[in-house]
Amino acid sequence: MRTIVLCFFLTSQVCSGHKFPPWFKFGAATSSYQIEGAWNVSDKTQHIWDTYCHSSGNKCSNVNADEGANSYYQWRDDIQAAADLGLDYYRFSISWTRILPTGFPNKISDDGVRYYNDLINGLLEKGIEPVVTIYHWELPQSLQDLGGWTNELIRTWFADYARVLFSLFADRVKIWLTINEPLIMCAAAYSEHTAMAPGVRDPNYGAFLCAKNTIMAHAHAWRIYDELYKPKYHGKVSLASQIFWMEGINDEVQQLTELAFKLNVMYIYPIFSKRGGWPVEIEEIFVELSKKEGYSSSRLPPFTDEEREFVKGTYDYFGLNYYTSRLVRPTFDGEKTYWPFRGSPDLGAALVPDASWRVSDNVPWLYEYPKGLRHIMEWIKKEFGDIEIIITEVGYGDSGKEPDHKRIRYHKEHLEQVHLAIQEGIRVTGYIAWSLIDTFEWEAGYTVKFGLYKVDYNDPSKKRKLRASGLYYADVIKSRDFDIKHKYISDEL
Ligand code: BGC
Repeated sequence: MRTIVLCFFLTSQVCSGHKFPPWFKFGAATSSYQIEGAWNVSDKTQHIWDTYCHSSGNKCSNVNADEGANSYYQWRDDIQAAADLGLDYYRFSISWTRILPTGFPNKISDDGVRYYNDLINGLLEKGIEPVVTIYHWELPQSLQDLGGWTNELIRTWFADYARVLFSLFADRVKIWLTINEPLIMCAAAYSEHTAMAPGVRDPNYGAFLCAKNTIMAHAHAWRIYDELYKPKYHGKVSLASQIFWMEGINDEVQQLTELAFKLNVMYIYPIFSKRGGWPVEIEEIFVELSKKEGYSSSRLPPFTDEEREFVKGTYDYFGLNYYTSRLVRPTFDGEKTYWPFRGSPDLGAALVPDASWRVSDNVPWLYEYPKGLRHIMEWIKKEFGDIEIIITEVGYGDSGKEPDHKRIRYHKEHLEQVHLAIQEGIRVTGYIAWSLIDTFEWEAGYTVKFGLYKVDYNDPSKKRKLRASGLYYADVIKSRDFDIKHKYISDEL
């Protein structure tokens, strides 16, 4: 009782027991390509994932999201699923080519606009707040053909697209994410070792060009909203950064650990740090390395003073995606690693799991370290100040075995860390689980399940069925307590 009273009346960050304060929001997320299907319906044109999964020789060549969970037609089912959980937020993304078939604002698709209007209005009618991602990795193929994220002009192309979305939806959408995970979208898309569209195999250069253009594009979009829409609608804009927490394998590797972490979070510094630009140490390392390697300028393109000022401070909150953590150790002689998942060849750092961390049965990179989530939030506060944090993704993937005890445990243990963070005075205001329903898991296709709802892909009606984890999450939301007794919580995991 004391806990309830405390949580209810205190406007401060403090909340004791296991209860979340009344202002804390719960949500779930998806993204357009991963659930919509209807890949060639109406005037929608191809984007890089359509092209990639339709071409031979790629991991997703025999499986694609042409149909997916069919959310383009079954959006009402998704809204119902969100409402049945009692969600405060539903995070979804908009497909660029569904709204702008040419990639440019010279043609706006009526059908595309209708689809997203229906979805947004339907959510609002159920009291669910839409959290909209402008770009979740589906670049129009037309723009990829012009160089995509390595062409500086994309800063304007993206800004034009964002401007159209704000003009259409900002009256009802108050929480925006410009870009989902620059680190993953650039480093994994330009890597020899991963299988993400557009599948350009250039680990040394392309990822860094992409990085700078992504950050600049984000800043353009933020500034458009800030100048034209914020005064009227009072919404907020940020981007979603995926961070893995890192710890040294022993005390001797502290410096290397800090560098490896800084390299993976370098995208955050131009936007959130007081100085702006890439972290100084990282910038210096790449100047030196690039010189040694025979390049005429740094592989990591620096920001001019003007660009630095333009980007600095372009956020209204911190969007954090968290799944897993790693230990850092120096690479052994001749050991090959790759950035960003296994380490950094540029730094001579390898990323490895701790032997005590549990790993998912079906997602080889998903080692569980719930404390990592809190440590990242502590780091954000220490490094950048007392910023509002919304956890925009956190989730557990598996092979789909029922009941999904392990996903329950994962969310429970991560919610506990969020609760502790609130008690520490960290301004974290929301937890958005990945994912509401099962999604097309990029290069892993349909073999990996993250959903609080199962999607039956073999059934033509693509039925959404609540998983045990969904039941647990709904009970958490109802009781605002992560430590509920639940028949699906098993101690024997
Ligand atoms: C991405 C999602 C993806 C999830 C699980 C995140 O990095 O934003 O699209 O499904 O990870 O792999």
